[in-house]
Amino acid sequence: MSEDLAGKVVLITGASRGIGRATALACAHAGAVVVLHARARTHLEDVSEQVLGIGGKSLVVTFDLSFPEGIATAYESIFRVLGRLDGCVNNAGMMTSGLLGMISAKSIQETLGCNLQGTILSMQYAARLMRRRKQGSIVNLSSIMGTRGAPGLVAYAASKAGVVGATLAAAKELAPEGIRVNAVAPGFIETDMTRALSAEQRAQSLSQIRMGRAGRAEEVAQAALFLLSDRASYISGQVLGVDGLMCV
Ligand SMILES: NC(=O)c1ccc[n+]([C@@H]2O[C@H](COP(=O)([O-])OP(=O)(O)OC[C@H]3O[C@@H](n4cnc5c(N)ncnc54)[C@H](OP(=O)(O)O)[C@@H]3O)[C@@H](O)[C@H]2O)c1
Repeated sequence: MSEDLAGKVVLITGASRGIGRATALACAHAGAVVVLHARARTHLEDVSEQVLGIGGKSLVVTFDLSFPEGIATAYESIFRVLGRLDGCVNNAGMMTSGLLGMISAKSIQETLGCNLQGTILSMQYAARLMRRRKQGSIVNLSSIMGTRGAPGLVAYAASKAGVVGATLAAAKELAPEGIRVNAVAPGFIETDMTRALSAEQRAQSLSQIRMGRAGRAEEVAQAALFLLSDRASYISGQVLGVDGLMCV
């Protein structure tokens, strides 16, 4: 176990699987008390046990990012139970596909509601807790799609571009309060999200990666861990690509 996050409390949204799970475990290894989030408590049983197994402590919170009231209630319980928040990884997200000519208003709303509005609200509540101690680090999950786009991903790419804009603006607002805000922009990472792609889409994505392979969730987790830690104490308002040099 390293000491990078010893004594800190870190919330990781979407900690039930993929990048969020790997980040939660990396934070627990680094000594943080981790607040694990997913839509249902049952989704987090395994990861809570794994945290316990490495000698860590966790608190579970549940909410659907599309419903703002749930986010507020979860942050209240973090304050009530743990009394502080030092780090927040806004990782939970969904990918919707649909060509511009076909995409429905409902699908656009769902994608922006979850990926963008949910991230902004989570940053808002996180900042309220962090400013009490005049310190904190927020890491938002964007995507290479947020700056490069791809056919069929209009709503998803827009939501992830929005996350970049929100990160940069919040970083400027919160810097005087000692709170750093950065984003991580993964390329193609092996998780349930990319496993849902067709063989053709997968081959197309892999062919664009100069390092010749998909990324692992743990590799993204290490980037988030660095940005959360005091090793990144002078870094804010940055978007860190973790994409094996993917040229989309
Ligand atoms: N995988 C990639 O190649 C890739 C590339 C670029 C960016 N990203 C971004 O990285 C993040 C994690 O991706 P991943 O691949 O690890 O995804 P994943 O394996 O599909 O996991 C998604 C996580 O988000 C949670 N979630 C989904 N919809 C939610 C909602 N409406 N409210 C609350 N929680 C919700 C899920 O929780 P439940 O257990 O409740 O379902 C789950 O924990 C996402 O923001 C994604 O856009 C991923």
